[in-house]
Amino acid sequence: MNDTADPKPTLADRLPGDPSRREMVERMLRVNHAGEYGAVRIYEGQLAVLGKSASAAVIRRMAEQERDHLDTFDRLLPEHRIRPTLLSPFWHVAGFALGAATALMGERAAMACTVAVEEVIDEHYATQAAQLGDEEPKLKAVIEEFRRDEVAHRDEALAHGAELAPGYTLLSAAVKTGSRLAIWLSSRL
Ligand SMILES: [Fe+2]
Ligand SMILES: [Fe+2]
Repeated sequence: MNDTADPKPTLADRLPGDPSRREMVERMLRVNHAGEYGAVRIYEGQLAVLGKSASAAVIRRMAEQERDHLDTFDRLLPEHRIRPTLLSPFWHVAGFALGAATALMGERAAMACTVAVEEVIDEHYATQAAQLGDEEPKLKAVIEEFRRDEVAHRDEALAHGAELAPGYTLLSAAVKTGSRLAIWLSSRL
C-alpha cells in the first residue's frame, strides 16, 4: 500500500498552546517591527522634502514617536530571539520613497499618506489586540499604547488638511493597498 501521508506536522496536528502561540507572537513582533521601521522611513522621506515647510514640526514630532515605537520592537525582537523580516532593506527604500513621493505632491498629499498608513496600522493593531485576548498582556499593552499614538497621528494629519489633497480618494486607496500588502508580506517573510 502507498503511504502518502506527509510526515511534516501541520498546524492542525499541533496541540493547542505553545508552538502556535509562539508563532503568533513571532509573526506579530516581526510585522510590527517592519511596520514601525517603514513608518520611520516614510516620515524621513517626507522630511527630506518638507523639512523646511510649515508642516515640518508636525512631521518631526510624528517621526520621533515612530522612532520610539521602533526602539521598542528593536528591543523585543532579540529578547524573543526573532529575526527581522527579510524585507527590511526593501522597506528602507520603499518607505522613504513613499514619504518623499507624496511630499513632492505637496504638504496635504503627505498628510493624506499619513492618514492612509495610520488607518491601516490602526486596524492592524486592533486586530492583533483582539487576537491576543488575555494572552501576552505586556505585548498587548504596548500594541494598545502604540495604536493610540497612530490614531493621534491620523487625527493630526486630518487636522492639517489631508482630505483637501488633490486626488485624495485615489491616493488614499493606493497607499492603503500598499500598506496592507507590506503587512501581509512582512508577517510571512
Ligand atoms: Fe508607529
Ligand atoms: Fe504613526
